[in-house]
Amino acid sequence: MVAERRVRLLILPGDGIGIEVMQEVRRIVEWFRDVRSLPLDLHERPFGMASWQRYGSLIPDETWHEIEWADAILFGAVGSIDQQTAQIPAEERKRGGLLRLRKSLDVFANLRPIRPFPPLLDMSSLKSEVIEAVDLVFVRELTAGVYFGEPRGVERLADGRRRGVNTHVYHSDEIERVARVAFELARRRRDQDRPGVVHSVDKANVMEAGRLWRETVQSLHDREFADVPLHHMLADNCAMQLVRRPAQFDVVLTDNLFGDLLSDCGAMIVGSLGMLASASLSGVDATGRRRALYEPIHGSAPDIAGRGIANPLAAILSFALCLRETVGASRDADLLEGAVTAALAKGARTADIAMGHDSLTTSAMTDAVLQELDRAADV
Ligand code: NAD
Ligand code: IPM
Ligand code: MN
Repeated sequence: MVAERRVRLLILPGDGIGIEVMQEVRRIVEWFRDVRSLPLDLHERPFGMASWQRYGSLIPDETWHEIEWADAILFGAVGSIDQQTAQIPAEERKRGGLLRLRKSLDVFANLRPIRPFPPLLDMSSLKSEVIEAVDLVFVRELTAGVYFGEPRGVERLADGRRRGVNTHVYHSDEIERVARVAFELARRRRDQDRPGVVHSVDKANVMEAGRLWRETVQSLHDREFADVPLHHMLADNCAMQLVRRPAQFDVVLTDNLFGDLLSDCGAMIVGSLGMLASASLSGVDATGRRRALYEPIHGSAPDIAGRGIANPLAAILSFALCLRETVGASRDADLLEGAVTAALAKGARTADIAMGHDSLTTSAMTDAVLQELDRAADV
């Protein structure tokens, strides 16, 4: 159901191609607000290097206020070239990065859908018959694990060597809440004629935290989700199975680090990192509010930044997830995903997916999607 009150959206473009693709997302959001009359309020704040250069802070108080105001954040990407980042004190980098943002919103469940677009089947490095039936979602734990574990740091030892330390740590409640999201998603998908199976990925053979992961997922399953088929899979095998027979997967539950690696691997099923969207969701608080951060899986792509050739579709498709998950406008989400598919079917391509077609600029690709939206809205 479409939200009755206005939905507050905050764009944080970030760095590099984050800025370029989020300009295009703004046009798409405005189309849904103006043509489809969705109750959307849209704000924007600089993030990353642009914020540092303007305010001397990566996340100044005004930005935190806007983050607090927003129902959903539409995020571009962060990551600057090393000489620029080196100007920013390490403490400020820790305080103002993407990881801090994810943690403070408590968006622990990161959904990364992987579904090939038929016009792009040949873009994959895998054979069409291996990927055409793929329809899977990674549920990646996003606010714990080795990304956040303490102790961490680099120290100088008495013997002169340096030692770098990170800690892979999970608590049972952190595992259980993300596993619950995966099981609930599998049930919903089964109702939509998909198999509704969960593969839980760990390294229980080597890591104690992996053993706890497996035991906790199994125990939640036995108590509350016995109807959902559950398979445990070791992470190295999962990487191999993803390229061998990806269609065997439906919902893939992973920790923070394995989910990062495996989902980039999934990009090759779709054909380009520039096509992969994600939604990061918190639990529902006492007031009924669920925080959400929508971000493409790709980064700031310094190798192509500033040239106007980045693929905006990952960011645009992330807004489709926002329409579905935060705005409650699933028909509009379908409309947007349909417009992307239709534009691709007519041959609209950015350079990363050009494959012999002429390639469009970032904004011309968005024009092609808007044209399909206009066409669909006229019908
Ligand atoms: P990347 O995702 O930025 O780029 C990997 C490759 O994919 C590059 O060749 C790039 O040109 C291509 N690519 C990515 N997105 C594309 C798009 N939309 N259209 C066309 N081509 C695209 O990863 P990287 O090069 O490993 O990292 C660059 C920086 O981005 C680093 O600082 C990294 O930390 C950061 N990063 C940020 C995020 C994020 O903000 N969520 C995600 C990943 C990486
Ligand atoms: C991602 C990115 C981030 C991650 C980086 C930029 C911190 O690679 O969202 O996939 O590792 O989570
Ligand atoms: Mn990543």
